[in-house]
Amino acid sequence: MKTAKTVDELRNEIKVFGENKTIGFAPTMGYLHEGHLSLIKRAKTENDIVVVSIFVNPTQFGPGEDFESYPRDFEKDAGLAEAAGADILFLPDAKEIYPVGSATIVEVEGPITKKLCGSSRPTHFKGVTTVVNILLNIVSPDKAYFGQKDAQQVAVIKKMIRGLHMQVAIVTCPIIREADGLALSSRNVGLKTEEREQAPVLSRALNIAKDLWISGENDVATLKTVIANEINTMPLADIDYVDILDYETLAGIEKIDAPALAAVAVRFGNTRLIDNIILE
Ligand code: PAJ
Repeated sequence: MKTAKTVDELRNEIKVFGENKTIGFAPTMGYLHEGHLSLIKRAKTENDIVVVSIFVNPTQFGPGEDFESYPRDFEKDAGLAEAAGADILFLPDAKEIYPVGSATIVEVEGPITKKLCGSSRPTHFKGVTTVVNILLNIVSPDKAYFGQKDAQQVAVIKKMIRGLHMQVAIVTCPIIREADGLALSSRNVGLKTEEREQAPVLSRALNIAKDLWISGENDVATLKTVIANEINTMPLADIDYVDILDYETLAGIEKIDAPALAAVAVRFGNTRLIDNIILE
């Protein structure tokens, strides 16, 4: 595996592989776990060259959020990325991504970026679309790999791709979980012992709602209450949001009569966890 720190180095490394090679790209913020590695492994099966980026993007963190304390271990990440099949690891610093004087932002407007995480993190998606646009321009992949774990992020990125007529296929990969249901996340490392014990309530609550929906309940308010009640059985859980939206548009719905996304964000101490399930 080659490592590139600058845009020029990255483009040169890609050139070394020769003409007409397909490129798969998995952008990450590092502290890699099996969720990230599943994207890299999938990319390896579908492309000639796999590029992985690790960049803790400052612009997607709001004031007072965990940018400084976001976990980092670039050395360990390099070994994991290589073992999963990465050919090139892109490790830019902030000056490389945002050169002095850079003033361009890419923003998807409308409810898709205002709901769910957009309401508690109002500048988050602007930072995500800007950096993903920059990274896609740098790497020029045929396919880019994202996790269903961040369902709203995927929806927003797909909308950006369509809106800007960008030539990249977005591949969405399933959520990888711990044995007890907790979705893998770099932020899980911040959970204290008791918080970690209670954290599987997110997936448990979503699955209870799914079972209820399968058995015929399609009233969104009822299903949201069931999810919130289950989460509130855990004393350390502090709900940020519980919502059920149209999966395609993320529009609000009252009854489920098309595929829907049930999504939750819950704080445990200083750690904010998200999870979701598709009702289809
Ligand atoms: P990060 O949180 O590091 O996640 C990188 C990718 O891994 C995202 O597409 C995310 O959805 C996926 N992922 C994380 N946990 C997962 C899990 N348990 N199962 C499956 N996939 C999982 O998302 C970001 O970084 C950033 O916003 C980024 C897109 C890199 C832009 O800065």
